[in-house]
Amino acid sequence: MPHETGTVVAHVHELQPGQTKKFVLLVNGREIECFMVNYDGQLFAYVNRCRHVPMTMDWIDNQFLTEDGRYILCATHGAAYEPATGECIFGPPCGKVLARVPLTIQGEQVIAHQPTDEDDA
Ligand code: FES
Repeated sequence: MPHETGTVVAHVHELQPGQTKKFVLLVNGREIECFMVNYDGQLFAYVNRCRHVPMTMDWIDNQFLTEDGRYILCATHGAAYEPATGECIFGPPCGKVLARVPLTIQGEQVIAHQPTDEDDA
C-alpha cells in the first residue's frame, strides 16, 4: 500500500464541531502556518493566509469561525469563507479559494499533507 509522508497534526477526536486548531507544516524548508476546522463533524484544513492580503486570518488567536460557526472569517477586512470548500463568498477576495491542506486519517491520527496550491507552499 503506498504511503505518503505527512505530519501528524491532531488526534481524530481532538476537535469538536465548531472548534479550530492551528498547526505548522514544513513545506520546501519553510514553516507554513495552517489551521484545521471541525465543520459539522468533518475536518478541513487550509493555509492560514487570506486571499486578499496575504495575512493570517484569526481574529483572536486560534479563533477563525464566525460566532454562529457558519463561516471562516478574516479579521482584517471581514472576508467570509466557506469552511467546507475554502471559497470566499463575501468580502474583498470574493470568489477566491483558500489553499487547502489535504488531511488523511490513519488510525487515531490526523495527518496533514502538502498544501495543494503551490503558490502557497
Ligand atoms: S486581508 Fe483578509 S479580507 Fe483583507
